[in-house]
Amino acid sequence: MSVHRKQEVKRITTHQLQEMKNRGEKIAMLTAYDYSMARIIDGAGMDVILVGDSASNVMAGNETTLPITLDQMIYHATSVVKAVKRALVVVDIPFGYYQGSSGEALRSSIRIMKESGAHAVKMEGGSEVKDSVLRILSAGVPVMGHLGLTPQSIYKFGTYSVRAREEGEASKLLDDAKLLEECGCFGLVLEKIPAELAKKVSQNLKIPVIGIGAGPDVDGQVLVMQDMLGITNEFKPRFLRRYADLHGMITGAVNKYVGDVKAKSFPNEEEKY
Ligand code: KIV
Repeated sequence: MSVHRKQEVKRITTHQLQEMKNRGEKIAMLTAYDYSMARIIDGAGMDVILVGDSASNVMAGNETTLPITLDQMIYHATSVVKAVKRALVVVDIPFGYYQGSSGEALRSSIRIMKESGAHAVKMEGGSEVKDSVLRILSAGVPVMGHLGLTPQSIYKFGTYSVRAREEGEASKLLDDAKLLEECGCFGLVLEKIPAELAKKVSQNLKIPVIGIGAGPDVDGQVLVMQDMLGITNEFKPRFLRRYADLHGMITGAVNKYVGDVKAKSFPNEEEKY
């Protein structure tokens, strides 16, 4: 008689991410916003799943990340957490839910952790968010930083172009990265900055640095799932590698289905009761 046991899956922790950096193993991170995709991504061996506020763009069709609400982020995160057995799930605190005060930042983080069951939060900014980072960490919630191109500040920057090319901005970025590490962040995302600067940040920090458009010399990579799977086929930044053409595949499959329905070839004899 065979005994069936529930397979034990070892969950990735912030501690394990640190160990991965220490031994030079790169960290793979991808966004997800719903149960079905999170299940596939987790099963495929992802280390970190980010419920990014890019949901505002790719799920809700907004031009920027600014409109998404905390309730909407919690809805996405709850769906993702239900699907994930192994990956560490990190959730973005959306625009307008942490900039007001450290108390607001703490309340938003607690709602995310309590209502979704996620494992950590991420927020954009350096010295400006120091008090909030410290307050959230003091409640036992792991925090990931995000520097470089910070899309919640798009109206301040004016463009989505590469950040920190100039010396002043580059040195503030390095200082901010060190500050976030000192505060106790378990990791840092660097978005769209020169590869040399990203390398310097990664070398100067003990905590893992995850890049998106930040070159190869960081401790891991993150992409938006819809972009790397070729669902959003109109978005073509240089840093993006497409691993599939799901836009083409889905269009082909849907065209075929429409054709079959019109031609009355679906359903057939075997597909009916
Ligand atoms: O919201 C998001 O998807 C992100 C990644 C681009 C890092 O913050």
